[in-house]
Amino acid sequence: MRRIAVCPGSFDPVTYGHIDIFNRASKLFDKVIILVSTNVNKKPLFTPTERIKMIMQVTEGMDNVVIDILDGLLADYVKDVGAVAIVKGLRAVSDFEYEFQMALANKKLYPDAETVFLTTSAENMYLSSSVVKQIATFDGDISSFVPDAIRDDILSRIKKVN
Ligand code: PNS
Repeated sequence: MRRIAVCPGSFDPVTYGHIDIFNRASKLFDKVIILVSTNVNKKPLFTPTERIKMIMQVTEGMDNVVIDILDGLLADYVKDVGAVAIVKGLRAVSDFEYEFQMALANKKLYPDAETVFLTTSAENMYLSSSVVKQIATFDGDISSFVPDAIRDDILSRIKKVN
């Protein structure tokens, strides 16, 4: 049986923290679907197409990883593709309550999948997409937060907005 996992998130934009989770999930499961999803509490800067393009660039070489997009309920998607797990990165205590709530809601909606939390690597504890956007807005150096392949895309997009 092929064990499929879904890695959902806003990825606005994808960071080294996310990439670390994709990499580790790809070693635990037969197939990993990175799912660019809608978080109703966030107003994304990048379009879904831009986010997918950036994820494609930074996951080159991860052979069992595919990318998809969802404008709907995560639990329905997980059921439709027959995934056994939802994989999320957990950074700190501050993430816990929100992630715990989502995990319980998803379990209620689709009990056959488990949410699996991977603890973020120590060097990414502080890292988030919003930190990257804030630093880039003020022309700071984001090279230790995102790969070179997407750095210019992020900077030029942020310049266009400001
Ligand atoms: O990276 P984020 O913004 O923390 O990811 C949150 C995300 C997108 C995974 C979450 O909002 C989500 O699952 N959205 C899809 C819609 C849905 O199923 N919402 C209910 C979750 S309990």
